[in-house]
Amino acid sequence: MRVVSTARRGRILSGMRPTGRMHLGNFVGALENWIRLQSDGWDCFCMVADWHMLTTGHEDTSRLQSDSFDMVVDWIAAGLDPQKSVIFVQSEVKEHAELHLLLSMLVTKARLERIPTLKEQIRDLHLDEQTISYGHLGYSVLQAADILLYRATHVPVGEDQVPHIELTRELARRFNFLYCRDREGVFVEPDPLLTEFARLRGLDGNRMSKSAGNTILLTDTPEDIEARVKSAYTDPKKIRADDPGRPEADPSDGHPGCVVWEYHRKFNPGEADDIARRCRAGELACVPDKRHLARVLSDALAPVRERRAQLLADPDRVRDVLADGNRRARAVASQTMDAVRSAMGLKPSATLVR
Ligand code: TRP
Repeated sequence: MRVVSTARRGRILSGMRPTGRMHLGNFVGALENWIRLQSDGWDCFCMVADWHMLTTGHEDTSRLQSDSFDMVVDWIAAGLDPQKSVIFVQSEVKEHAELHLLLSMLVTKARLERIPTLKEQIRDLHLDEQTISYGHLGYSVLQAADILLYRATHVPVGEDQVPHIELTRELARRFNFLYCRDREGVFVEPDPLLTEFARLRGLDGNRMSKSAGNTILLTDTPEDIEARVKSAYTDPKKIRADDPGRPEADPSDGHPGCVVWEYHRKFNPGEADDIARRCRAGELACVPDKRHLARVLSDALAPVRERRAQLLADPDRVRDVLADGNRRARAVASQTMDAVRSAMGLKPSATLVR
């Protein structure tokens, strides 16, 4: 029997682009939050944002399916519970496309061009403002459609996504104002739920990303983890084992803080203070400290690795989870779209026939 969530605390909608197997940064930034919200009794909709993936890369779609599958396996392996949360794929719920089209009339091109996330993407991906696609320009409208379709009250996101939630609120207000004057508004204005822990840096101290090769995957083996942690950035001035080290950042020489200690704080909070003290006193060398962190991470990830192996032994179960999630998402989305069409006077064609 399915445990029906109680919606005590409102409804969450969140999405992730399918980038395949997840790394620790994805976990700390987003997934961990979803899992906590799910167990705190929120009504969670967790979406594979596969159409969003196309907005910044539409030519090569060969990995879209397998990356979506791998990502969902990691979600479940890490603790997202398909009994409690609705896990679904955006492109399987066509209402996202319909609402995106309708909302796209309610926003100006200039408004979309002002969104900082878009500006950053243009800069980071070395795009030319004149050549970005219509779909890319509108991807925040697609995101608004994702959220409004489920009448989510809250959207767990990182700081960088807040401008999208603002746009979502504007679109909800505009729609309700234009089309719901004499009735209750169709849409709910959602609030962002900010991720508590700041983004985890990559092992080299830079922004964590798969392409930079500075990640640890949730499903890395203990050997992989030990080898990866060995390469992590520490205080460059701590050369000999008994040199005093600096766990924290030091602006005097631009030292951004020791990555190994940052990971200890996140994944090994009980020992982190003592580790910092021994490092500063020159009592702890980097090599054993790294070996210790590798063990902490391996132990923490062991159950995830195990569950992933179980899930992969029976991939049909994962497909069933998605089929069920898609069905539950569609049920909500189609109700919202009925209300949208009715408010906008887009009646079913049968009523046009006299
Ligand atoms: N735009 C988000 C990202 O790139 C992913 C996303 C798509 C999303 N739709 C969403 C996040 C709806 C929250 C709500 O990370």
